[in-house]
Amino acid sequence: MFKLLDLPFDAAALEPHMSRDTLNTHHGKHHAAYINKTNAFLKERSNAPATLEEVVLLARRENDKKLFNNAAQAWNHGFFWHSLTPEAQGEPQGALRGAIEKAFGDLKTFGLEAKAKGEGHFASGWLWLVADRSGAAQLVDLHDADTPVADDTYTPLSVCDLWEHAYYLDYKNERGRFLDAYLNSLINWRFAERQYEAAQRGERGWTYPV
Ligand SMILES: [Fe+2]
Repeated sequence: MFKLLDLPFDAAALEPHMSRDTLNTHHGKHHAAYINKTNAFLKERSNAPATLEEVVLLARRENDKKLFNNAAQAWNHGFFWHSLTPEAQGEPQGALRGAIEKAFGDLKTFGLEAKAKGEGHFASGWLWLVADRSGAAQLVDLHDADTPVADDTYTPLSVCDLWEHAYYLDYKNERGRFLDAYLNSLINWRFAERQYEAAQRGERGWTYPV
């Protein structure tokens, strides 16, 4: 049975960019529901894996869409909370910075492309910054619950939740302003750097706590 992980910061710590109300609902209601439904579906199985990553892979392999959607959303939200921070991060450093500059030219162009991809994504989903097997940084938008955990093509570095529940209380329909907040104020570059270093070592980095 999986537990709703604690937020890595106080629910009010991301204000004014993300309100306590948004976090209490998003984490306490939406994320909790994905965890509870995942646990309920696993109860019906004799082959329930021990880790959430393995649950996502099993559900994809068996084309169990209900289990996949809930387990992947449970994982994605855990990764999303770690992709955010109240502590000023400045700019990405080290190997990750080099990969971003190689892929996008410079940080400003990366920001413009990330915002455009996030704004252009139709309906619900996630905007992922990932590293591919060669170490190249890429932006990938995936629909609904889809996640890089479901295949071994990419290592996720950071993610922004594009579902309306992530921003509607604070920004109404203005997803672009929410993406500005993520890219300019909330993104946890230290976490993304650690993920990139893990990818370089051939490891998968952050895993959902068991
Ligand atoms: Fe969400």
